[in-house]
Amino acid sequence: MPVIESTPELVRAVYERTRKNLSIVRERLGRPLTLAEKILFGHLDDPKGQDLEAGKAYLLLRPDRVAMQDATAQMALLQFMQAGKAEVAVPSTVHCDHLIQARVGALTDTNVASTENREVYDFLAQVSAKYGIGFWKPGSGIIHQVVLENYAFPGGLMIGTDSHTPNAGGLGMAAVGVGGADAVDVMAGFPWEVLQPKLVGVKLTGELNGWAAPKDVILKLLGILTVKGGTNRIVEYFGPGARALSCTGKATITNMGAELGATTSVFPYDAAMERYLRGTERAALAEVAGEYRDLLVADAEVEANPETYFDEIIEIDLSTLEPHVVGPHTPDLARPVSELKKAAIAEGYPTNLTSALIGSCTNSSYEDLSRAAALADQASAAGMKMAAKLMVSPGSDQIFETIKRDGQMASFENAGATVLANACGPCIGQWKREDIQKGEKNSIITSFNRNFRARNDSNPETFAFIASPEIVLAYGLAGRLDFDPLSDEIVQGDKKLKLKAPAKADDLPSKGFVRAFGGYQAPAKDGASVEVKVDPKSERLELLAAFVAPKAGDFDELPLLIKTKGKTTTDHISPAGPWLRFRGHLDRISDNMLTGAINAFNGDAGQAANVFTGEKGAVPAVARDYKARGKRWIVVGDENYGEGSSREHAAMSPRYLGGAAIIVRSFARIHETNLKKQGVLPFTFAVASDYEKVKEGDRISLEDVLAIAPGKAVNAVLHHVDGSKETIALRHTLNDEQVAWFKAGSALNILQSK
Ligand code: F3S
Repeated sequence: MPVIESTPELVRAVYERTRKNLSIVRERLGRPLTLAEKILFGHLDDPKGQDLEAGKAYLLLRPDRVAMQDATAQMALLQFMQAGKAEVAVPSTVHCDHLIQARVGALTDTNVASTENREVYDFLAQVSAKYGIGFWKPGSGIIHQVVLENYAFPGGLMIGTDSHTPNAGGLGMAAVGVGGADAVDVMAGFPWEVLQPKLVGVKLTGELNGWAAPKDVILKLLGILTVKGGTNRIVEYFGPGARALSCTGKATITNMGAELGATTSVFPYDAAMERYLRGTERAALAEVAGEYRDLLVADAEVEANPETYFDEIIEIDLSTLEPHVVGPHTPDLARPVSELKKAAIAEGYPTNLTSALIGSCTNSSYEDLSRAAALADQASAAGMKMAAKLMVSPGSDQIFETIKRDGQMASFENAGATVLANACGPCIGQWKREDIQKGEKNSIITSFNRNFRARNDSNPETFAFIASPEIVLAYGLAGRLDFDPLSDEIVQGDKKLKLKAPAKADDLPSKGFVRAFGGYQAPAKDGASVEVKVDPKSERLELLAAFVAPKAGDFDELPLLIKTKGKTTTDHISPAGPWLRFRGHLDRISDNMLTGAINAFNGDAGQAANVFTGEKGAVPAVARDYKARGKRWIVVGDENYGEGSSREHAAMSPRYLGGAAIIVRSFARIHETNLKKQGVLPFTFAVASDYEKVKEGDRISLEDVLAIAPGKAVNAVLHHVDGSKETIALRHTLNDEQVAWFKAGSALNILQSK
């Protein structure tokens, strides 16, 4: 039975291998190494033979762990079952956090979810027990918080089937969000492949004070780098300011590195991390990390001359950092709080704030909740209540029980808050919202990490803003967006209150955490005897069938399914919310495919004209019609296509319904890999303006695509409705192995044959 914990022995073995690998790599490169390089190169499968060139080489790595959340684990484990292995090759865990709907409060919501999702939870528990996977039941916490509290360790490499997996970077781990197919490779014992990222160095100086919080570091950085600024790059923090941040504060920053599109983000090992390890009953790990400290920080020369070793350097002075608010609809629309009032009036954002939400995997540390609770106490002392509905999503059972014991929960409740289940809830659209009707314009503010249209409550007219928990709480008290908590008074009836900046809060509870393991199920001693049941009539789960390999003729005059305009995130390609219930059933969930995407020809969401009948219909229905006619199809998209989450349904549904290729101006990293894994060709226009040449009703031929080869452009012929033709060049980033995936029909087809 595999060991699930990051035991001191296991971690020591990782460090020993890292040291050995690095001695080979150092000899090859002959230069100092950054921390990110130490972790990546320390996990190389073949340190002698591996090509090393940032932005060009594909690294084959040996991750130490895999983590999966319940929404993505279903598809990942359905694929793993096809791989034919007896048990997982590396410590792996499943966390039930995405499927709990926020309705009335923690206990009831968790119970309702346990009943409603029983079939899925039973399936995940059975597969976990059978294949040696640690299983965290609903209510035990959000994947990234539970991983930080129990499994993350400095210098480790982890992959997780959730885009905010980099949260573990707060504890010095290189943790990367991937699609389920990547997780399957690693769990089946194969190396994991990733484009060697370039490096962004962020030098932090000074120390946070007043209202400023770790969240403001990443919100400011989002304003600088934008949602594309981290693509195929690792963000490495360093400098005295980094050492002045708590471990959980660092985790907030690395968590939202996902919003930059970064492969991951890391902080060097320091005293705050050591304290956190000890505070979470992992003193033995802290001892081991102490012995190998040189592997867990960049070489001294790197910090002394960062411009030589990073592709870009950004410096942020924490002492002068102002609290920020970002949004609506995108996390890189950043400004200091002092400018929000002006922006709200100028842009016509609804100024009435209907809800304030704190917590989630991003911001539910002891420090976060203590600072927000201190503001709630100021309000209660002044006889005030929240003007907007306040909801708190604790990140784990451990946090829930600790704030219950230490009084922060009572502070929130006294101010009128509802404490939700230890789960994602409104962060992933699992919010049974009754105060606002769909289509009603309103604003909300959250301490979450993502604010795409309709993400939180499925209402495209909700304007979602993001800030630190303390700033969210202040806005929730005021109930208005045209308010500056640093300078304005809150007025409720005849009561007035000028909030004081919350004092520094403890990062660790003085009485220790209430450690909670009630929701954990260890793997079965004898996995072979565990039976996994999937009802063939189920509408939640469906066993997978292999995708068929492509053949000549599959790529001639393919109908254009839809040309999308502007943001096409994974939330637009495979919306969450009500669709989360079908994450284990490929056929059912495919009815959501691209229903949030904006059609470039008419501005409608999720509608397209059928090139055979001329009739307009929902995109998935049109795709099913093409499939029934035996015709594969093509999607054309804009910039950063597939931005957002790691959900591979955004690649599997297109593959399942007949998608042959996605042609865009640019891709988000995880989604591009997911498409390759499923056998869908991801192309970019060689000339970005060729996007404009694609017309409604086009059929597109991909020339000689079965002979596709690394670095070789592919020509596409656009057959326009008026009979004219144009040829454009397309680029791709497939390497030899990925070409083999395409030719086999999918990466899984190759895995099965090994
Ligand atoms: Fe869950 Fe939201 Fe985090 S969906 S994992 S709480 S980003």
